[in-house]
Amino acid sequence: MGCLEVVETHRSVRSFSREPIPDEDLNKILRAAQRHVSPWNLQPIHVTVVRDEGLKSKLAEILWGQEQIKDAPVFLVFSIDYAKVLRALEKIGAESKVLGLADLVQGFISASVALGWSILVAESLGYVVNIIAAYGRPCAVADTLNLPKYVVPIAGLLVGKPAGELPPVTPRAPIGASVGLDGYGSVDEKSEYYAKTVEGFVDKVARVLRPGGPVDRMEKEIRECYEARGFKI
Ligand SMILES: Cc1cc2nc3c(=O)[nH]c(=O)nc-3n(C[C@H](O)[C@H](O)[C@H](O)COP(=O)(O)O)c2cc1C
Repeated sequence: MGCLEVVETHRSVRSFSREPIPDEDLNKILRAAQRHVSPWNLQPIHVTVVRDEGLKSKLAEILWGQEQIKDAPVFLVFSIDYAKVLRALEKIGAESKVLGLADLVQGFISASVALGWSILVAESLGYVVNIIAAYGRPCAVADTLNLPKYVVPIAGLLVGKPAGELPPVTPRAPIGASVGLDGYGSVDEKSEYYAKTVEGFVDKVARVLRPGGPVDRMEKEIRECYEARGFKI
């Protein structure tokens, strides 16, 4: 499948067969992550390949009991990684600044590029994927995977073959909601486009973003984890 077709036919799949992924294909998916771009080519990312059944079960439990993590043959955990960067500096006797928000932003973007490229390659090879919000429980995931300080998980990626029928492609808001020419445009107009995604879409967003809702509940754990893992935010 070509790149454009992959993008047009993408859908998150949450039901996987146990069929394993041959190493040759897995290596192509990991190669895509390795080829990510990053500021100054710092490459502040790490991908943990999780295939062990016990580890997958533990991660499924931590990540809100998402059973799909157990079923997929491979769970790739994408992290921001400054551990190796700092160690390399230490080895040449160079001092590092205190790591903070700018480093995290750079890490998020780099790891997200890696994640996106891995998705493209996996789907072009005929696999299905789903992203898992590992950023919501970063330290629990990091501890389970024995990740060192200065490494923080941001997203998991399940890769495998589907069990059963593929779900339908999920609609997006009209392009005006997310694209502006030479600027932003009208917030009102965009919010109307946004509301046109599917019926009831804004109500769903309201549930997700409500005070005390699922995103709000992650906030404290994320902040504490970044501090504990060496980032001053
Ligand atoms: C940052 C991020 C976190 C996500 N976390 C989860 C998750 O934990 N569990 C899940 O089933 N899907 C998760 N998803 C998948 C989204 O729900 C999905 O991409 C979105 O609803 C659009 O559907 P589509 O991928 O089928 O087009 C996540 C997606 C992103 C980008």
